[in-house]
Amino acid sequence: MTDQDMYSKIDINTYQKETELKNGTKVLLRPMVAEDQDALYEFFKAIPKEDSRYLRDDVSSRLLVEKWAKNLDYEKTLPILAIKDDAIIGDATINRRRSGWKNHLGTVRVFVHKEYRDVGLGHLMIDELVDIAYKLGIEKLIVEIPDPAGTAAINAFTRAGFHRVAVIPNMVKDRENMPVDVAVMMKDVRPAHDEAYDYDF
Ligand SMILES: CC(C)(COP(=O)(O)OP(=O)(O)OC[C@H]1O[C@@H](n2cnc3c(N)ncnc32)[C@H](O)[C@@H]1OP(=O)(O)O)[C@@H](O)C(=O)NCCC(=O)NCCS
Repeated sequence: MTDQDMYSKIDINTYQKETELKNGTKVLLRPMVAEDQDALYEFFKAIPKEDSRYLRDDVSSRLLVEKWAKNLDYEKTLPILAIKDDAIIGDATINRRRSGWKNHLGTVRVFVHKEYRDVGLGHLMIDELVDIAYKLGIEKLIVEIPDPAGTAAINAFTRAGFHRVAVIPNMVKDRENMPVDVAVMMKDVRPAHDEAYDYDF
């Protein structure tokens, strides 16, 4: 039995989960499919300007969202959507590399619709990403959080067991081309195959 056989405990093509937030809102979690293109564009359109700095890409571009929908490849980028009444209210992704020295790592991102914040959805989605990552055999998760001072994101990832490993000054630029610090947080998802790689945070 290969290492991958041992840990591959999820069929991402059939995965979906019905769950409930603490305020009673029913939410469906499932991977993005091509047909989500319009709903995803609407989700991104609703992002307040002050939050757009947390996004690596210019998601106001319909062409970009179309490209994502057309080129879905869950082994590279796995987008998990939170859906309520056919609308997307949260988007969380795990990015992976199939080979090379980072192929045990997953890079995560989470974005919750402004109207559904502070009711536990971010927490729920991060926990779900960690669970999916474990089942996919990913060893470590990493998240890059821009403008880390006092953000909800630091709290949300800390609660999910991520540790701050670095703050990189002026790592990215915001939409006004101004430099912004980035906090790097990591979480060990399952024991490393080789103990030599097992960092103690
Ligand atoms: C970071 C982010 C994902 C958090 O999402 P969220 O759904 O608001 O997160 P949660 O609701 O789980 O937690 C937020 C707060 O609500 C509180 N909360 C959670 N459930 C609650 C409930 N049922 N009732 C009251 N408060 C609650 C939490 O304690 C937390 O408070 P704290 O920040 O003081 O610790 C969201 O703010 C976001 O999308 N930000 C922009 C994008 C971003 O920064 N992404 C991260 C970098 S990739």
